[in-house]
Amino acid sequence: MQTKIEKIDSSSALAIKIIESQEEEALDFLSFREKLSYANISHPEKRKEWATARMAMRDALEVLHVPYPGFFKDEHGKSQVMNGTGFVSLSHTEGLAGAIFHRETPVGIDMDFIREKILKIGFRFLDQTEIDFLEKDPLHYTMAWSAKESIFKCQGKRGVSFRDNILLEPFSPSASIIRGKVRGTDFADHHYQVQVRVISNVVLTYTIW
Ligand SMILES: CC(C)(COP(=O)(O)OP(=O)(O)OC[C@H]1O[C@@H](n2cnc3c(N)ncnc32)[C@H](O)[C@@H]1OP(=O)(O)O)[C@@H](O)C(=O)NCCC(=O)NCCS
Repeated sequence: MQTKIEKIDSSSALAIKIIESQEEEALDFLSFREKLSYANISHPEKRKEWATARMAMRDALEVLHVPYPGFFKDEHGKSQVMNGTGFVSLSHTEGLAGAIFHRETPVGIDMDFIREKILKIGFRFLDQTEIDFLEKDPLHYTMAWSAKESIFKCQGKRGVSFRDNILLEPFSPSASIIRGKVRGTDFADHHYQVQVRVISNVVLTYTIW
C-alpha cells in the first residue's frame, strides 16, 4: 500500500494512504472496540476506507514513537484517543484515507476530489463574502470546502454550520495556507490556519488548533 507520512513537528504527524485490498490480519493492531466497529460496517468499500484510515493513524503515530492506543467516537462523531492522551482526526474518500495526530492540541484533516459539481452547491456552504472572492473554479471551491471540513473537524462539535459559522479570509487558488475563523458559536473568534496541498486531483487540508 502506498503511504505518505509527514512528521509535522515533534508533537504531530500525518499519513495518507492509497486504499488497496487488505488481509484481515493486517488489522490486528486495532483495539477490541475498533474490531467490533469494523465488523459492523457492511459496505465493503466503506470497510476498507475505515480500516485504511486507522492504518494511516498507526503509521503517523509510529514516526512519533507513540503506540497505537485505539480510538472511539464521541457524541459528536469525532474520534477521541482511548487513553485520553493526544488528539486525532481522520478522513477517507474513494481510494484514499488519511489521519493526523497531535500530542497536545485538537487537529482536523480532510481530503476531497476536485469535481465540477462543487460549483453548483457553493450557496450551501459559502458565505456571500466568500462567493465574492472565489473564482468559479472547481479547485478554488474545493479548497474552500476542504478548509471548512478541516476546521469543522478540529472544533469537533455538531451543529456548526459551514456557511453561517465558519468564515474564510480571501485566498488564491495557489494558496498553501487558508485562514479562517469560527464565529457565532461557543467557540466564536477562534482563528485557524489551514494548510493546503493539491495532490493531482485531490485537495488535502489540515489544521492544528
Ligand atoms: C462529519 C463530517 C465532518 C464528515 O466528513 P466527510 O467529508 O463526510 O468524511 P471524511 O472521510 O472526510 O471524514 C470522516 C471522519 O470525520 C470524523 N468526524 C465525524 N464527525 C466529526 C466531528 N463532529 N468532529 C470531528 N471529526 C468528525 C470521523 O472520524 C470520520 O471518520 P470515521 O467515521 O472513520 O471515524 C461531515 O460530513 C459533516 O457532517 N459536516 C458538518 C455538516 C455540514 O455543515 N455540512 C455542510 C453543509 S453544506
